[in-house]
Amino acid sequence: MKRDKSIELLNCAIADELSAVHQYMFFHFHCDDQGYDLLSTLFKRIAIAEMLHIEKLADRVLFLKGTIEMKASEPVKQITDVKGMIEFARQSEEDAITLYNNCAIECGNHADSVSKKLFEELVMDEEGHYAEFDDEMENMLKFGEQYLVLQSMERSKKKSTMMAAAAGAKNNEPA
Ligand SMILES: [Fe+2]
Ligand SMILES: [Fe+2]
Repeated sequence: MKRDKSIELLNCAIADELSAVHQYMFFHFHCDDQGYDLLSTLFKRIAIAEMLHIEKLADRVLFLKGTIEMKASEPVKQITDVKGMIEFARQSEEDAITLYNNCAIECGNHADSVSKKLFEELVMDEEGHYAEFDDEMENMLKFGEQYLVLQSMERSKKKSTMMAAAAGAKNNEPA
């Protein structure tokens, strides 16, 4: 079974997903470096979800006897301010929703209902990601810098609790 149009759309989606993985991991590294644990974990978790999307898309390309191109569509943007990261991520999810809706319609038009269904499933996931980034943007706008300060404080608290526990364990060690 060979469906050139579907293979082209699936590879285009893989390229966007690869860019999303790179970009979200870049955001994860920078949030982690700045001590924003909640956002750092969020970016990592969604990067992993996008990686699993690549797996589903690649499986379908292989089933259709196509070639997996595995080329990212965009280089990583050097955005290091948190509000810029969330804005970028939210927009990327919105773009993915539009693209995958169009891909689903296109696959339906050339009678490839399995690829259509795959794109529809991806739309559902990307809407979930959009909602998460939208919530984060709302928090940023509502609480401003305080939202980030709280995350940094939480990190320091966790660190000192861990250090205290480690010191306690050491003191209890038999001499
Ligand atoms: Fe995705
Ligand atoms: Fe996504």
